Amino acid sequence: MAEVSQAWLERVQRAQQLAAERLGVDVSSMLPPRDGSTGEAAEAAPPTEAAVPQPEPVAAVAEAAPEPKTQAEPEPTPEAEPVAVAEVTPAGEAPTEVAVAAVEAQAPTAVQSNGSAAAAERVAPVGRAAVLETFEEGREGINRREFLSYAWAGALTLLTLESGLATYQFMYPRFREGEFGGEFRLGAANLLPQVGIDPEGNATGKFWLVNTDKGPLALYMVCTHLGCLYKWEPSNNRFECPCHGSKFSREGYYIEGPAPRSLDHFLIKIVDGGSVVAETADAGESFSAPGVPGPDADIVVDTGKRLQGKPAALSPAKAVASRIELEFEDDVL
Ligand code: FES
Repeated sequence: MAEVSQAWLERVQRAQQLAAERLGVDVSSMLPPRDGSTGEAAEAAPPTEAAVPQPEPVAAVAEAAPEPKTQAEPEPTPEAEPVAVAEVTPAGEAPTEVAVAAVEAQAPTAVQSNGSAAAAERVAPVGRAAVLETFEEGREGINRREFLSYAWAGALTLLTLESGLATYQFMYPRFREGEFGGEFRLGAANLLPQVGIDPEGNATGKFWLVNTDKGPLALYMVCTHLGCLYKWEPSNNRFECPCHGSKFSREGYYIEGPAPRSLDHFLIKIVDGGSVVAETADAGESFSAPGVPGPDADIVVDTGKRLQGKPAALSPAKAVASRIELEFEDDVL
């Protein structure tokens, strides 16, 4: 860059020399003293009209600069043409040192342009090397450190969202219709088994469907003692557990055995006209079956809502059984 600047300085000096010859003045009167003197000698002589730079030298500089070329002069770059001097200097004014400095300041731009052209000629990197070079040079307005920070922030945000979603699903599990834990649509009420016939087992929903004169009931298939699967015994018209002998009535009431309570229920909803019109209700010592308004009402069993059976001591079936046993013993005695 220093060589180019020196070349331009020489060219400007040459232009000043030509202008001085054309005007018939000494070029030294146009230059500041270089011997360290204060320039008093130049100031002693009154400035003549010829010594004062006139507007003509501007054109002279612009015209004379491109003409002479010597072997020793470096080839100027296209961006550093003498036209730049005329652009820097306002029309009608002589070139000043400020103008020369401006031209010198433009010279590195030409060098940089040549450097950019050379960089463009080299083979562009591809793949990971291209990405790294892009971030290292900051061409995309983001450096490598910022990219890693954003990547970490994105990963942490995604992890937080996934954890929140998993927690939500754990706290509020969602079951599809027709799978245990979800709803089972049994169809219209006229499809229910007749009152008084054997209960129907639903293995997928894990419930026994019992139809009574007050409405349908859904009994959880698991024994309330230790979790065995009890069975329906048609000969005795009751449920019996094969593990420890607990027995329950058709409606799920405790009769006898080690079970601590009556059978658990699932909530049954009666849907008519798109809305729930009745459902299984807690009646204190037992559960009341929902009434069916008509044969077209839909029966829905919600296996996600289990109603725990009432204590064995409250079972009306146990009281009936005890009374029958006492009456039998009295008759024998
Ligand atoms: Fe049913 Fe024990 S598990 S009686």
